[in-house]
Amino acid sequence: MPSLRDVIASYKDQAPLEQASTIPAAWYVEEGIAELEGQAVFSRTWQVVGRVGQVQRPGQFLTVEVAGEPLVVVRGSDNQLRGFYNVCRHHAAAVVTEQEGTASILRCPYHGWSYGLDGSLKGAPEFEGVCSFDRSQNGLVPVGVDTWEQFIFVNLDPAAVGLRDFLGRLAPRVAPLNLASLHFFERRSYTLNCNWKVFVDNYLDGGYHVPHLHKGLNSVLEYKQYTIETEDRYCLQSSPMVSSDVDAATAATRTGDRAWYFWQYPNFMINLYQGYMDTNLVLPDGVDRCRVIFDFYFDDVSESAAERNRQSIAMGERVNDEDVGICESVQRGLHSRAYGAGRLSVRREAGEHLFHRLLAADLKSGLNRAASDH
Ligand code: FES
Ligand SMILES: [Fe+2]
Repeated sequence: MPSLRDVIASYKDQAPLEQASTIPAAWYVEEGIAELEGQAVFSRTWQVVGRVGQVQRPGQFLTVEVAGEPLVVVRGSDNQLRGFYNVCRHHAAAVVTEQEGTASILRCPYHGWSYGLDGSLKGAPEFEGVCSFDRSQNGLVPVGVDTWEQFIFVNLDPAAVGLRDFLGRLAPRVAPLNLASLHFFERRSYTLNCNWKVFVDNYLDGGYHVPHLHKGLNSVLEYKQYTIETEDRYCLQSSPMVSSDVDAATAATRTGDRAWYFWQYPNFMINLYQGYMDTNLVLPDGVDRCRVIFDFYFDDVSESAAERNRQSIAMGERVNDEDVGICESVQRGLHSRAYGAGRLSVRREAGEHLFHRLLAADLKSGLNRAASDH
C-alpha cells in the first residue's frame, strides 16, 4: 500500500493545464485523504455556516458543525457577531441545543452553567469552595467569524488570513451583481453517494457536461460563448443567455442576459440568473458521501410570487437530479482498478485545475505540519 505521502505526491501540481491530469482516484476513495482534508482544508479555510438574516438582532443564534466541531454563532447585545465552540467548559455538553433561535443567556442543559452572549461564564451553580477556579478563564472558547454579502463564515484556524484576503478578487467581482436585492426563500439539502470533490469537479467543468446531461438548461445558454475565469481561490463560469422555446419550464424560470456561476474554494458556490440566486454548500460526510445544501433566493419573495419561485426551485431540482446521478456514477468509477486519473479539457476545465492545485497545496502543507508535530 502506498503511503499517504506517496498518494499526495503522485499529483503533479506544477503541470500547466495542457499537460495536467486530475487529482488521482485515490484522493476520492481513501479514508486517509478524507481525514487530512478535515484538518488541512475544512479546519483552516473560511467556511460558510449561515445567512446574516438568521442573526440580525441581538441574542439571535445558530448552531452548526464545521470539520466535526460543534459551533454556535450569536449576535451580542452590543450587536457584535461572535462565534464559539458549542462545548461547555464544565463537562463538555453542547450548551446550545437548538438549530437557531433567540436567547439572552446561553444555559447548558446538563448542570445549568450559563454564559453571556459574549461567551463569558456568568453562572456555575454549587461551585463554592472549588480551588483555583477562575471564572474569567472558563468562558466559551471563541472561533473566528466574519460576514461577506449575505453569508456568515467561520474559520477554526486562529492563524488564518482574514476573510477579505481569503476571498481575494471574488468580492469586487461579485459586488456589481447586487446580491443584496435577493432574499432568502427556502433551503433544500441532498445527500449524494459520492466524495464531496466529485460534486465540486462536476460544477467546475466549464459547462462541458451541460449539452449532454442538462438538455433543458442547455437550451437557454449560449454554450459556445461560455467563459471560464480563474483567479485567487475562485472560479467564475459565465454564459450569455438566449431565448428558446425548446423547454418552456426552463425558459420561464432562467431569464436575463447572463448566467453567473461562482465557486469559492473549497466548497461554496453562488449561481445567479435575473432575479434568482441559489448557493450550494458541499459538505463531506465520510469518503463516499456528501451533503449539498441549496439555499434559494429571489428578488420577490412575497406571497404572490411564491408559486413562481417554487417552479423555479423545481427546475433547479431537475438539473440537480441529473447531476446527482452522474456524480454517483463517477464515484463508482473512481473505485475501479481501470481508472487512475484523467486529462483535462483546456477549453473547459481550468476551474477543476485550479481546485486540484489549491487542494494539493493545502494537503501538502497539512502533511508537513503533521510531520513536524511528531
Ligand atoms: S456540562 Fe455544562 S453544566 Fe455541566
Ligand atoms: Fe450540472
